[in-house]
Amino acid sequence: MNASAEPFGVRIRGTGSCVPARVLTNEALSKMVDTSDEWIVQRTGIHERRICDLSTEGTFTMACEALKNALDAAGMQGSDLDLIIVGTVTAEMTCPSVAARVGAALGAVPAAAFDLSAACSGFVYGMNLAQALIRSGQFKTIGVVGSEAMSSIVDYSDRTVSILFGDAAGAAVLSRDPDPRIGCLYSTMGADGRGWESLYIPRHAGDVPEHDRNNPIAMGHLRMNGKEVFRFAVTKFREVIEDAMSKTGLTAESVGQVICHQSNIRIIESAREKLGLPSEKVYINIDRFGNSSAGSVGLCLDQLWRAGKIEKERPFVMVAFGGGLTWASGVWRI
Ligand code: COA
Repeated sequence: MNASAEPFGVRIRGTGSCVPARVLTNEALSKMVDTSDEWIVQRTGIHERRICDLSTEGTFTMACEALKNALDAAGMQGSDLDLIIVGTVTAEMTCPSVAARVGAALGAVPAAAFDLSAACSGFVYGMNLAQALIRSGQFKTIGVVGSEAMSSIVDYSDRTVSILFGDAAGAAVLSRDPDPRIGCLYSTMGADGRGWESLYIPRHAGDVPEHDRNNPIAMGHLRMNGKEVFRFAVTKFREVIEDAMSKTGLTAESVGQVICHQSNIRIIESAREKLGLPSEKVYINIDRFGNSSAGSVGLCLDQLWRAGKIEKERPFVMVAFGGGLTWASGVWRI
């Protein structure tokens, strides 16, 4: 423990992301399941998503590339990291963690490493945790990654889940900064495990609740009650953004980007309209990448960062919800 008496801030040194080259369009999906481009676009806002070639790509390879890109952007190397956190529910193996293998691949040994399971909230949970650990003085430089090969857990004969998800990873490198005003101004993390059955990946038949016993989706694949998740998300999303803005005194005018987990365009648009946020402050890429779970917020952050859309003068917000059920928010000044 090297806790310092001096206050310090946390700076986002660089961001990175990775998406597979392979594109799965609505048109192609409609040849696999009983659906149509029109239905998917109208109900979700998704036109296409990226899918790994699982023989050579996956959660681990995308996590490596996203974090390497973030390190390059920061002008750093793996050896500069003292902790790696990977938010994921699609780890190739439960042991070892994806994070430990990423650390080895990027030359970060002996940096600490662990995976974080908070489903689609994984990246925001990871960022909140990382900044708190840096502020505590225990760690100096942390790589946070959200990486999901959702295609490895999606049953492509089921039209309720296959239309929604895509594969992606996003990453950020955070480190201690002498300016105490820089970093996370406010954060929340929450969970309500009473709603776990709305979104779950059973491993054994015994994991499956009574009412879902006839679900044809195989073990190890994602099951979702879309209506339940929608109902939860549409209220929670607005509440969490409203809370983050009011607690930091931000208004629709003074806030910078509000980076939302790309769950469904209707959920994001509903929150945006109720909060009176202009569309240019609420980035959308679900049309091209679908819902990439923990990959989604980090991917948006990287795309906005590289486009110069994250402004120094205006704090930006990250917000996500997902399986668990979980939710999280963070307000950051760069
Ligand atoms: N293609 C065509 N028709 C479909 C379909 C598909 N892929 N999936 C469902 N339908 C049909 C249903 O069978 C139903 O038909 P019916 O009226 O004859 O019974 C109709 O379309 C409406 O289904 P419903 O489930 O009510 O649609 P919806 O408007 O709730 O949209 C989701 C479904 C999944 C897009 C939506 O519920 C959703 O986005 N939920 C949130 C999911 C989410 O965010 N998950 C990730 C959390 S991080």
